[in-house]
Amino acid sequence: MSLLTEPRRVHIETYGCQMNLADSELVGGILHREGYVLAKDIREADVVLLNTCAIRDNAEQRIYGRLGYLSTFKRQKPDLVVGILGCMAERLRARFIEKEELVDIVVGPDEYRKLPSLISMALEGGKGIAVQLSRIENYDDIVPLRMEGVSAWVSVMRGCDKFCTFCVVPFTRGRERSRMLLNVVRDVASLMGRGFKEVTLLGQNVNSYRDGDRDFADLLRSVAAVERSLRVRFMTSHPQDMSDRLIEAIASTSNLCKYIHLPIQSGSDRILNLMNRTYSVEHYIHLAEKIRQAMPGVGLSTDIISGFPTETEEDHRMTVSLLKEIQFDGAYTFKYSPREHTKAWEMHDDVSEDIKGQRVNEITRLQHEISLVRNRALIETVETVLVEGVSRKSLEAFTGRTDTNKTVVFPKTDVQTGEYVDVLIDRVNSATLFGELVVGKRSTALTDILNTQEAAA
Ligand code: 5AD
Ligand code: SF4
Repeated sequence: MSLLTEPRRVHIETYGCQMNLADSELVGGILHREGYVLAKDIREADVVLLNTCAIRDNAEQRIYGRLGYLSTFKRQKPDLVVGILGCMAERLRARFIEKEELVDIVVGPDEYRKLPSLISMALEGGKGIAVQLSRIENYDDIVPLRMEGVSAWVSVMRGCDKFCTFCVVPFTRGRERSRMLLNVVRDVASLMGRGFKEVTLLGQNVNSYRDGDRDFADLLRSVAAVERSLRVRFMTSHPQDMSDRLIEAIASTSNLCKYIHLPIQSGSDRILNLMNRTYSVEHYIHLAEKIRQAMPGVGLSTDIISGFPTETEEDHRMTVSLLKEIQFDGAYTFKYSPREHTKAWEMHDDVSEDIKGQRVNEITRLQHEISLVRNRALIETVETVLVEGVSRKSLEAFTGRTDTNKTVVFPKTDVQTGEYVDVLIDRVNSATLFGELVVGKRSTALTDILNTQEAAA
């Protein structure tokens, strides 16, 4: 890169999960080290990288749509380098280059260190693929390139060994491997120094985090100890590995957020078994009770897949009654999408798109009602909110979140982004709480402590 007179400009687009957002920042870090600069506007870019998702077919269709647009764009700018990164790169490999003439480089999630040399090669007119998965690559030494803000993602482990039968992740992201605890703590301390107020520790299954004899509970405690005014979140948890030690760590540490995303996937034991989820509905219900007992008011959300092979109306009804019983704060619902290489790919995808759609709609509607009831219970309570900025829907309002991960919107006043405030909730819908800053006594004891620690930090 030092030979170049002007820095090359890279535009990165991210699709899919938070792990991909974190990976794009990692890619930004790797390229920044080599003298590249980020281009926000695609029209200014010499290189366009799409960090892709392969979890469901519709995620892939979106990328093909984007490639359609990029091919018209490349006609006007023939030197433009187009790269495919992430899970789709890993899944489709050479097929991309063979099928999509405009794609110059294809790079899987464990090969991002090779990006600078692959891009240089492509700028010279070549094409390149790097899609080896690794048992050790965890990019522990790379400093991700992050925009300033309130919240930062910190990846603590990569890959997944669970092999749920519907899921492509073990094939696209490879075996599970954790970063060193000390390196995660070092990163978090540096983010704190840069003014971030919240970190989310990321992994496909954070509960199986390991560094020697230290587990995820140890990691959470260490990260939380960096500074008590820093909020610490994490995702995603697997119901089989959610230990009592972990629940105890979250419950007893003030700045470990009381919010757990705990995908159940189905309310039928028969389907859970076919999915290789390795727990029963009974285990899950017991776990949810334990979590709520240890942390009253905890935010609990889940993922549901509708229309897994052989799912009957009866299985679906079991999922519906489970949702009624558990009363989640939120649920992400998906139509089952067969993925090549997975065990379920071999099963007959026998639930029609129509039925999948009907079941997803029923579950989504029901969950909205439940979320609304749960949010209504917060009317007239005072919530401590970390201010994230101006609301997307109204420039006259601020938005932030409670530690239970509920979005709160309140009229704009003289508070700052990154400050903790108390909001008296007066109105809700199924997704958002609305309220007013507590007048006269703006800060409760808790926000006072948080804001003072922040000022001292
Ligand atoms: N089809 C539908 N949903 C899926 N998920 C993962 N794989 C599939 C698939 N093949 C969902 C699961 C998981 C979430 C991230 O995506 O619910 O928890
Ligand atoms: Fe996929 Fe299951 Fe691993 Fe989650 S735990 S990434 S659903 S294989």
